[in-house]
Amino acid sequence: MKRVAISGIGVEIPAAVISNEELVASFNEWVDTENARLHCTGAEPLQHSNDEFIVHASGVKKRHVLQPDGILDPARMAPRIASRPDDELSVMAEFGVASARKALADAGIAAADVDMVICSASHQQRPYPAMSIEIQKELGTSGAAFDMSLGCSSAAAGLHVAFNLVRSGAQKRVMVVTPEIITGHLNFRDRQTHFIFGDASTAVIVEPLEDGDERPGRFEIVDTRTWTQFSNNIRSNFGFLSRLSQEDTTFLAMEGNMIKQVGNKVFKEVTVAGHRFIVEFLAEHGHTPQDIRRFWLHQANSRMNAMILKLSFGHEVGHDRAPMVLDRLGNTAAAGAIIALEENHRDMKPGDYGLVCAFGAGYSIGGALLRMM
Ligand code: COA
Repeated sequence: MKRVAISGIGVEIPAAVISNEELVASFNEWVDTENARLHCTGAEPLQHSNDEFIVHASGVKKRHVLQPDGILDPARMAPRIASRPDDELSVMAEFGVASARKALADAGIAAADVDMVICSASHQQRPYPAMSIEIQKELGTSGAAFDMSLGCSSAAAGLHVAFNLVRSGAQKRVMVVTPEIITGHLNFRDRQTHFIFGDASTAVIVEPLEDGDERPGRFEIVDTRTWTQFSNNIRSNFGFLSRLSQEDTTFLAMEGNMIKQVGNKVFKEVTVAGHRFIVEFLAEHGHTPQDIRRFWLHQANSRMNAMILKLSFGHEVGHDRAPMVLDRLGNTAAAGAIIALEENHRDMKPGDYGLVCAFGAGYSIGGALLRMM
């Protein structure tokens, strides 16, 4: 088995920002219009959303979005993303390529030096041709490419696959690209979830290390792990069979086909599972949480991360130990933990350990134990 390193990381965060205040104002305007309509029907009125609740419950203050146009319009409440001709680069591939080019520059290698692209994200724009193959073509990488998906653990699970492909010698250099356009599948009219997500794309390049090779400032991947257990508490029913339950099969009604989540159940169950995953994974390598200089956790909820760390350490742990990006970016699905990693590792010393740990739909958890070289 070969030793394996992360040789490059790229993060693309779209420029447009939507604050909680803006999001709540648009939601509440829609609620008022809807309630005026519902009034005559005698139906239960819809409730307003509220910025204080959002910050207190989740820690999210604002989010970056790929396409703001349409999201805040109470008559639409969805991003306006035009379809493109088949011979133009698709939206998701374009977003992925932006982070991939940054990862290539960070690694100081040419695209042709990469012999496998894995596009691993919580949603794929289409089933085929694979997004990864379009990214491969646009970048000019060699070899092959495939897509995979594991909810918010997609990037960590992609890293698990990439690590083992490189470790075994099956591939020379693997790039895991995670373009998350999660606002495209978010129901901005759902009070429970409308505030949670933001868009971002990440890319990570994994390659072998020769014996004795130490690269200051880079991470060796000590090991990776993935865990899953079925749950309906975060679910999207959107798929190729969705339209077939309708009489008119020429269109697809999206009601019931976007992201839904029983947030408080997810919170409780995944907090316990995440804590157990961290402690057991580290123990397999003879470590306790105290040995780990930095935790790059999934960026869904600040209280949830604080609780996972408190359970794991036995006391509260600050942001220097476990940095937070969700306050300014929202939950960027599988991209979140990789963004936390990219933004918070340059101060680490040789020999320091760090743990990437992402969790989400499935349920799923993915982890990577890293050692600074
Ligand atoms: N504005 C105001 N009030 C709201 C609201 C909103 N936007 N959304 C829900 N509420 C209300 C609820 O109606 C409920 O009111 P009630 O007590 O009168 O019934 C109350 O707030 C509490 O709702 P709850 O859903 O229990 O809130 P919570 O504290 O669990 O926070 C989440 C909600 C979604 C922020 C939180 O559960 C969470 O982040 N869970 C984890 C999600 C996750 O990790 N996902 C994995 C990866 S995607």
